[in-house]
Amino acid sequence: MKLKNKNFLKLLDLSSEEIAGLLADAAAFKAQKKAGIPHRLCEGKNIVLLFEKDSTRTRCAFEVAGADLGMGVTYLGPSGSQMGKKESIADTARVLGRMYDGIEYRGFGQSIVEELAAYAGVPVWNGLTNEFHPTQILADFLTITEHFGVLKGKKLVYMGDARYNMGNSLMVGCAKMGMHFVACAPEKYFPNGELIAACQAIAKETGAVLEFITDPNVAVENADVIYTDVWVSMGEPDSVWQERITELSPYRVTMELMEKAGKQCKFMHCLPAFHDLNTVIGKEIGEKFGIDCMEVTNEVFESDRSIVFDEAENRMHTIKAVMAATL
Ligand code: CP
Ligand code: NVA
Repeated sequence: MKLKNKNFLKLLDLSSEEIAGLLADAAAFKAQKKAGIPHRLCEGKNIVLLFEKDSTRTRCAFEVAGADLGMGVTYLGPSGSQMGKKESIADTARVLGRMYDGIEYRGFGQSIVEELAAYAGVPVWNGLTNEFHPTQILADFLTITEHFGVLKGKKLVYMGDARYNMGNSLMVGCAKMGMHFVACAPEKYFPNGELIAACQAIAKETGAVLEFITDPNVAVENADVIYTDVWVSMGEPDSVWQERITELSPYRVTMELMEKAGKQCKFMHCLPAFHDLNTVIGKEIGEKFGIDCMEVTNEVFESDRSIVFDEAENRMHTIKAVMAATL
């Protein structure tokens, strides 16, 4: 796929064909990597990774993909640059654009990554904002294709806070690829009306179906994928935990829901996941609220229906495809 000098900021900016092309490239890169065939397509280039929020998968995916493509990679963490504190986004973008061939950004508002792209003069890739997480969706769709053969017509039910980066991006991606997307949550957690309207317009062209359902038992019927994410995202205040646990507990992914969906149904999660108490926050929240998991039970997470580690691996192959296409 040739997207030379283009940014990768949100899936709304790409056509269905471009998304399909990136997925095909990612599958090819994955096969080459498994066969031990080097693919240093971007030899001699340099990229910078700007992270204003923490990361395991996205950072490592960009670093490994960058190295596999033959590039130099610089990581700048939340406290490692002047950006935002002593230097504006526009100035930072113009400086980095003079030194690097591409810039990844993870942080807060989508407007920040859009502003970086407006000033950088080199491709900018969105590694997660509050509103969108487009590289994650490519990994998710590669994983669904590997397990089901196709995307079109597959039913993906997103349980939980569907108005944030993951719910928004999955809805856009499903609309673009002609899938059946269901947001399942209390109404206040549905994506905003403007984004729903934009996706409905895309769905008319692609044959996608978009639904918004509050009852989990109704939503999961015949689902191919049940997808969830953390109930409190990075950057949100601790004060929202109580409300989220109360309001989203009925939307926890349980084996009962998986069975209700049917034998075909797989479990997906962008990770990290609170499926047990083996993390500092999981333990703290678990003890405070008397629960042993949050958005998904350990039983589902560890079951053979769970394809979360395929998804995690596919972050690297898909991010490689995005960089190779745009550089
Ligand atoms: N899924 C995802 O983006 O994970 P990280 O926060 O570890 O990058
Ligand atoms: N909604 C989550 C996604 C993490 C990959 C967050 O923003 O923290």
